[in-house]
This record gives sequence, structure tokens and C-alpha cells, in this order.
Amino acid sequence: MIPLIIDTDPGIDDAMAILYAAAHPGLDLIGLTTVFGNVPVATATRNALFLAELAGLAIPVAEGAAAPLVRPLAPYPDFIHGAEGFGDLPPARPAGRADPRPAARFLCETVAARPGAVTICAIGPLTNLAAALALDPSIARNVARVVVMGGAVACPGNVTPRAEANIFSDPQAAAAVLGAGWPLTLVGLDVTRQVICTEEDFAGLARAAPVTGGFLERAARFYLRFHRERHGRDGCTMHDPTAVIEITDPGLFETRETALAVTLEGRAAGRTRLASAGPAVRVCLVLDAGAVRARFLAVTGKADAAR
Ligand code: RIB
Ligand code: CA
Repeated sequence: MIPLIIDTDPGIDDAMAILYAAAHPGLDLIGLTTVFGNVPVATATRNALFLAELAGLAIPVAEGAAAPLVRPLAPYPDFIHGAEGFGDLPPARPAGRADPRPAARFLCETVAARPGAVTICAIGPLTNLAAALALDPSIARNVARVVVMGGAVACPGNVTPRAEANIFSDPQAAAAVLGAGWPLTLVGLDVTRQVICTEEDFAGLARAAPVTGGFLERAARFYLRFHRERHGRDGCTMHDPTAVIEITDPGLFETRETALAVTLEGRAAGRTRLASAGPAVRVCLVLDAGAVRARFLAVTGKADAAR
């Protein structure tokens, strides 16, 4: 099993990613770290605690950054994820409390305890990962893999014409993380935009797994409405689950090894672009979108049985 920490800002598609990971027999979800992004960090922590409990996992949830390293905090996208993070659903009420350690310390200590074993999947702004690198640079050689949902290398962005939301939210952190020289795979809009699930897909999940799938079906209604009204599309983009599926099913993705640069300032701030110098990362540019969608539905459909 792959020991996995998800760094997250839940968020509706974050919830999909976490419940997929919890249900997958090949993943050992050993912790969640939280970051501002879709919601304030305190809300992200509350939601992450709720998701762990919903999945039946007694794992640490460590709270991280409340704001970007340098740039001012942008408004939270409540029109996509709802004010509380799960669409129209009322605030989650987890029973548990966050781990006393800050996210960066939790990441460093957990990776150092099992050198070469732990994979980190970041599905929010990269502030916690940048803080971990600053706190203990040895994390870069001790981590097994880092998989990041973020960026738009050969396609338009989703918050500006050039920038994807997770990179735009903290470009300085993203530059540090993409340039750290650790084994990093970028799963950006180039591929995540192609993976679509519909209202019918979520209705099927609710039938297959009434507790976890039922929760996702109710949360996804808001997210589906956003996609219908903003993009005229019947179906929502599965950004964050696609990054976790790259870990469980790498054969569904084609990658290119290249250095990347992040634009830090100005109108193109948050842009991820090919660079001729710097540490190489693997960028996903092609995927089998139908197979990724099918994997999500098949695994998450068994989430209640995995609790
Ligand atoms: O651009 C997609 C990313 O930003 C995802 O992580 C999603 O949760 C959103 O906030
Ligand atoms: Ca996210």
C-alpha cells in the first residue's frame, strides 16, 4: 500500500479526492493537512476532520497556512464550493480535533519517519509544502513522490486567462515547490478539465454507497449547478480526484519531463510555463479521461464498504 498524505482545502472536489483515496485498497491515507483556498483554513480543517470521520478513518488532520506567503489573500470562491465548502450543505460537525502540530511540521516529521515511503498529494494552494521545504529541506530527498493538482501548462487557466486556482493562490509557494528538485508530478488543467462526472454519475454513487456517495451527491449539486450556469455544461470537472488517480493508476496518464517556471507578478501571475533551466518535473499532458472517470466511480462506489 502507498502511504499517502493529502494536503487539501475542502472544497467539493477535494471531498471527492479524499473519499476516493480512503476507499482505494492500494492507498493508506495516513493524514490530511489543510490550507486556505476554497474556504478559510479553519473551515478547511473542520471539513477535513468531517471527511476523515465520514470515511471511518482515525487519522491526524493538521492545520496549515491561513494565507499565501507574499500576495494578499484572494476572495474565497464561495460561488463554486459554497460558503462552508460543501455547496449548500450546512456546516459540518466533526467530533474530533486537529492534530496539535502545524501542517508543515506534520509533513516533515511524517516523511522523515519513513524515508522514501510517503507520497504527498497537494490539492490546494502550495503554501504548506513550501513551508515544509523551508522548515526541513531533507523532506525533498525523503519523500517518495509529490503529486500536485495545479497549473495550466498548455491550456488556459481557470481564474485568469493564464492561471489555475491553486497556483494563482500562492505563486511564490508554487515556485518553491516546483523548483525544489523532488520527484514531482503536476496534474493540471491540461488533463483534469477532461474528466467530467454528471448528475447521473453522482446519483449512482449515492445508490452504491449511501453514506459517503450520498454525501458527495448532495455536495455536488452546487458544484454541478456552477458548471451548468458558468460553462453551460452538464457535468463537473474532477480536478482533485484526478490527481489522486494519477497515484493509483499512473498508466492512464502520459507525462513529459521538463522544468517549469511560475510567473510571480503582474497580469500573468500564477501562470505555469515551460522553462529551459531548473529541476525537471513530470507534467501530465494526456490522459484517458473515460478510464479516469470510471476508476473514480468504481472505487468511490465501494467507499461505504471500506469504512
Ligand atoms: O483549479 C482547481 C483547483 O482549485 C482544485 O483544487 C479545486 O478544489 C479548486 O479550488
Ligand atoms: Ca482543492
